[in-house]
Amino acid sequence: MPVQSFVYNSVPQRVVFGAGSLQHLAREIDALGARRALVLCTPEQRVQAERVADMLGAHAAGVFDRAVMHVPIETAREAREVAQRLGADCAVAIGGGSTTGLGKAIALDSGLPILAIPTTYAGSEMTPIYGITEAGMKKTGKDFKVLPRTVIYDPELSMSLPVRMSVTSGINAIAHAAEGLYATDANPIMDLMAEEGIAALGRALPAIRASAQDAAARGDALYGAWLCGTVLGNVGMALHHKLCHTLGGSFNLPHAETHTIVLPHALAYNAAAAPEAMARIAKALGGGNAAQAVFDLARDNGAPVALRDIGMKESDLDVACAHALQNQYPNPRPLERDAIRALLQNAWEGVRP
Ligand SMILES: NC(=O)c1ccc[n+]([C@@H]2O[C@H](COP(=O)([O-])OP(=O)(O)OC[C@H]3O[C@@H](n4cnc5c(N)ncnc54)[C@H](O)[C@@H]3O)[C@@H](O)[C@H]2O)c1
Repeated sequence: MPVQSFVYNSVPQRVVFGAGSLQHLAREIDALGARRALVLCTPEQRVQAERVADMLGAHAAGVFDRAVMHVPIETAREAREVAQRLGADCAVAIGGGSTTGLGKAIALDSGLPILAIPTTYAGSEMTPIYGITEAGMKKTGKDFKVLPRTVIYDPELSMSLPVRMSVTSGINAIAHAAEGLYATDANPIMDLMAEEGIAALGRALPAIRASAQDAAARGDALYGAWLCGTVLGNVGMALHHKLCHTLGGSFNLPHAETHTIVLPHALAYNAAAAPEAMARIAKALGGGNAAQAVFDLARDNGAPVALRDIGMKESDLDVACAHALQNQYPNPRPLERDAIRALLQNAWEGVRP
């Protein structure tokens, strides 16, 4: 197909990739011009965070281990106060999207540079998008102040991510790339990254299922996550992300699992309206039908495929549908109530699209 006109924004960010690349942390903190780093993590990843703090020695201001999903405003405020009290001049976020999100909330307020060390495949480290939850409502926004200045991708740190979470997190990443391929502001550079990212994850996830310690597969998966996260940060998302945001926010469903279950159905919904994107997704996953290929990748690797299996009630599907139809947004196929309701029913039951 001939190249159409497009706009491409290049984002200034430094990426250090490779097994063992955590060893470059002190050098990277120095390159940011920082002297005292506050290390952020969830309570579950305290040990990894302490290792990071140990590596920084006198350049570690402390460890704040209270990151949780969806960045409650109270936690963000507390982390900002701790950063200020300890005289931190940068934050190191080691963990998944929840920890990176806490780093972003600190950066939004203080302008502190963030160095992210992602240990899942969610991709938040590559986006200027932040989310903060206040009084039960998650507000999201976009500000380049929150974009991590440096990202260290060390696949060795993702070895401990349980297989099921690795598979769902990997499909969460695929979702960014898949929707990027049919974005209204898509461009050929992001398309390349999207297809390559999906392919890398498509080959990595079955290998990780076979062995969580497969170093090559962990490298492939993190590389794919980087590419897919870059797509998320550069072009607009559509129906799939809106549905997942609604389901996660209103019914408190787990982030990566929700993405994994909904994606095949969102792709089936958009298939006829975005045939070129579907062809690229299918090609990256080894051919066939894009929606079915994603469904099979999840099911065959032990991920959940039905919303009813992750705590969604059938009686809530009507409300979820109504939310998804609010605030119209760009999507290849117009939002049609009956078809969206059927999509949700299929996702709830876990039928193969
Ligand atoms: N702003 C953005 O651009 C963006 C993008 C993607 C996700 N997000 C947000 O990120 C959150 C989800 O992030 P997530 O899916 O990465 O999950 P998460 O960060 O909530 O992590 C889930 C759990 O896995 C643990 N974990 C992470 N890596 C591990 C490892 N290597 N070994 C063992 N345990 C590990 C974490 O400590 C946590 O307990 C959501 O709130 C979502 O909205 C934001």
